[in-house]
Amino acid sequence: MVRGEEYETSIDVHTPSVARMCDWLLGGVDNYLSDREACAELLEIAPSAQSLARSNRSFLGRAVKVLAEQYGVEQFIDHGSGLPTQDNVHQVAQRVNQNCRVVYIDNDPLVLAHGRTRLEENANVAVIQADIRDTKAIFGHGETQRLIQHNCRTAALFVSVLHCIPDADDGRGPAALIQRTAKELRELGPGNFVVICQLISDDPAVRRKVTRLMARKTGNSWGRVRERSEVQAFFSGLQILEPGLVDVVDWRPDSPPPPAELRTRDWAEWGGLGQL
Ligand SMILES: C[S@@+](CC[C@H](N)C(=O)[O-])C[C@H]1O[C@@H](n2cnc3c(N)ncnc32)[C@H](O)[C@@H]1O
Repeated sequence: MVRGEEYETSIDVHTPSVARMCDWLLGGVDNYLSDREACAELLEIAPSAQSLARSNRSFLGRAVKVLAEQYGVEQFIDHGSGLPTQDNVHQVAQRVNQNCRVVYIDNDPLVLAHGRTRLEENANVAVIQADIRDTKAIFGHGETQRLIQHNCRTAALFVSVLHCIPDADDGRGPAALIQRTAKELRELGPGNFVVICQLISDDPAVRRKVTRLMARKTGNSWGRVRERSEVQAFFSGLQILEPGLVDVVDWRPDSPPPPAELRTRDWAEWGGLGQL
C-alpha cells in the first residue's frame, strides 16, 4: 500500500461520496447517514438504482472472468475500484489464475483505508489513491511498475466510473482519458483490453435529474449521465468484442436470457469490452 500524500485523507461524513453511496446500494455497511439520505433521493428519481448497482457488479465479475479465462489476461488496472465488496476483481481473476495481478485505483479516502485491510490480500494486489485522470502518475507509480509487466495481457477497467468524470476540453474529460490509457496499454504490448460501462439514459429528464442530484449531493464530484452515442465514442479505435456495446445485463449473461426484471427502462449501465 502506498499512501497518496497529495490526496484528501480525512473522511467527510457529512458530504455523500460516490464510493459510499455505491456501497449502500450494494447492501454494504461502509457508509454514513449522508450517503443513505442521498441514496433515498436517488431512488425517488431512479427506483432501480440498487438492482442496477448489482447488475453492474455482476457484469464486472463476468468481464474479468472472461478476460482471464478466454483471453489470458493476467493484469488488471481497476480505475475507480470502489469500496471492497464480494467478489472483488483480484478474487475473480485469481480464481482463474492465481498469478493474476491487480492495481486498484480510487480517490476516496475510505477506499484507501478499507482497501489496505481488505483488498491487499496478497503480494499480487495493490491499492493506489489517485485521480483516475492522472494517467502518467498511475502508470508511473511504483506499485503499478512492480505489478504490471510488459508483454503480459493487460486490461484497464473503467466500470461505472466515467459518469463521475465531467466533460472537459483540456484533456481531463473521459474520451481523452481513455485515449491516454490506450496509449499506455499499447506501450505495454499488443492486444490489451479496455472495459468501459457508464450510466446512460435515452430520457433527457432522467439524465438531467440524476446529474443534478449527484452533482449537488457530492459537492460536484460527478460528471454526467450520458447518451449511448457518447459512450460508443469512448471506444474509438478499439475493436469491440462480442456481443458489442449493450446494457451490461446483456453482456455474456451467465444464463441467457437474463431475467426480464433486471432490464431497467429509464436508465442503464451501458458499455462493453474493447481490444487494442
Ligand atoms: C459507482 S463507483 C463504482 C465502483 C466499481 N468500479 C463498481 O463498478 O462497482 C465509482 C467509484 O469511482 C471512484 N471515483 C470517482 N471519480 C474518481 C476519480 N476522478 N478518480 C478516482 N476514483 C474516482 C469513486 O470514489 C467510486 O469508488
